[in-house]
Amino acid sequence: MTVLGIETSCDETAAAVVRGPADRQILSNTIRSQIDEHAEFGGVVPEIAARAHIEILDRIIAEAMQEAGCGWDDIDAVAATAGPGLIGGVIVGFMTAKAIAMAAGKPIVAVNHLEGHALTARLTDDLEFPFLLLLVSGGHSQFLLVRGVGDYERLGTTIDDAIGEAFDKTAKLLGLPYPGGPQVEKMAAMGDVERFKLPRPLLDRPGLDMSFAGLKTALRTQAKKLEPIDDQTVADLCAGFQRAVSAVLAARTRTALELFKARHPDAEPVIVVAGGVAANREIRQSLLTAAQEAEARFIAPPMNLCTDNAAMIAWAGIERLQLGPVDDMTLSPRPRWPL
Ligand code: KG4
Ligand code: ZN
Repeated sequence: MTVLGIETSCDETAAAVVRGPADRQILSNTIRSQIDEHAEFGGVVPEIAARAHIEILDRIIAEAMQEAGCGWDDIDAVAATAGPGLIGGVIVGFMTAKAIAMAAGKPIVAVNHLEGHALTARLTDDLEFPFLLLLVSGGHSQFLLVRGVGDYERLGTTIDDAIGEAFDKTAKLLGLPYPGGPQVEKMAAMGDVERFKLPRPLLDRPGLDMSFAGLKTALRTQAKKLEPIDDQTVADLCAGFQRAVSAVLAARTRTALELFKARHPDAEPVIVVAGGVAANREIRQSLLTAAQEAEARFIAPPMNLCTDNAAMIAWAGIERLQLGPVDDMTLSPRPRWPL
């Protein structure tokens, strides 16, 4: 089956054509980031995002179809993100998808963006259910137990900032540009990780919840004491921050794997990481180490499939259609939509 996927829930306008489930082929994966439009505001501005999606989405879809060598007759269904996300953008993408589906006489699949992230590793790797997913992006930080398509259990989440958000806010208060994650990582590489001891929030408590707001506040307090701060101090603070986040994620991953093994003693323990923060090398390395210590398999899909993209939406559409016919024509976009 061949599915056109559309993703517009944040600041990437994306379309992709994916074939599966047997041979799992990404025929095209077109994306345009709006980072330049939002950079001067230090974050994503919802109204600007929605307008930018409107301006470019038709061309992105045409490109994806052309690159895949597909006409409408070659497509079996259209899948689009229907939430959660910035509602203006979601409306643009989902309504466009509905119009295409109606005009081409194809079924439409409303995909939960988080389900897209959750199932990506089944597109890139041989992976059976159940498995553990750590989703770490600008909007989400959560451990999910993925038992099957549409069968998810959230085991833990952040009680305040998402990790990407914490990286972005930290960068901002240190005077680094948006998006902050890659900037903090770059500075951290030049920093002395021992100079600032930052807290590991919530680690004294059991369970899988996380907290990152206190870490950012501790960093701000340290920075204020040393004002005006020089480049080396910025680098040292970044190194301390990144180390604290990596340590929290590694510790929670160990707990999550223990819980997984207790719940599913006969299944292979697997932890998959997804989301933009998965680009961070120190975080990836500490997750890999945590998985190895627990004798678990660690899967990090290629970066362009970890961050927001439409191939994951098309794939989630394929996975849903495997369970039976779907037609979400009467469904409305949802800004909030927990898995
Ligand atoms: O998944 P994503 O592309 O978009 C959504 O939030 O849905 O994630 C973007 C987030 C941003 O907060 C960005 O700062 C963070 O991922 N990020 C990183 C790195 N690259 C991107 N955080 C830490 N280290 C990085 N190398
Ligand atoms: Zn995302």
